[in-house]
Amino acid sequence: MRRETASLMPKNTLPADVAAKLRQSAKKVMKNAHAPYSKFRVGAAILLSNGKIFSGCNVENASYGMTNCAERTAIFSAVAQLGPKIEIRAVSVVNDHGVPCSPCGACRQVIYEFGPDATIFFQGANGPRQAHITELLPEGFRLQ
Ligand code: THU
Repeated sequence: MRRETASLMPKNTLPADVAAKLRQSAKKVMKNAHAPYSKFRVGAAILLSNGKIFSGCNVENASYGMTNCAERTAIFSAVAQLGPKIEIRAVSVVNDHGVPCSPCGACRQVIYEFGPDATIFFQGANGPRQAHITELLPEGFRLQ
């Protein structure tokens, strides 16, 4: 494969049926969002390297800054269930407005903690997109 073509290929990918299942989990949990302030419901599902899927929604608060994004809800729920030795393979994010929505900066750093090689599926400016976590978060922070 020519180098220019290779650089356009996604770094990691998932079988289409697995990506669809992950997206379905994100859509289902989106309905549980607590979003009375923004009225913007978000659902996220994470696929772990052991094949398990965890999902989460955004949980807002009257003190706006206390809001937890869907992605972090999903990740924290997985850690609470399985402990910290989880490895995130992929993340799927959906919203109820059907608008472009990639994980926020804080969530990118949290995804990177447990998934430095994760693939993120989200709605981009020109339709569905997938990106490697390091494309979204170059030079992610790690304590060695
Ligand atoms: N939100 C998420 O849950 N995930 C994202 O990727 C983007 C933003 C939430 C936070 C807040 O509840 C609402 O969307 C509007 O920012």
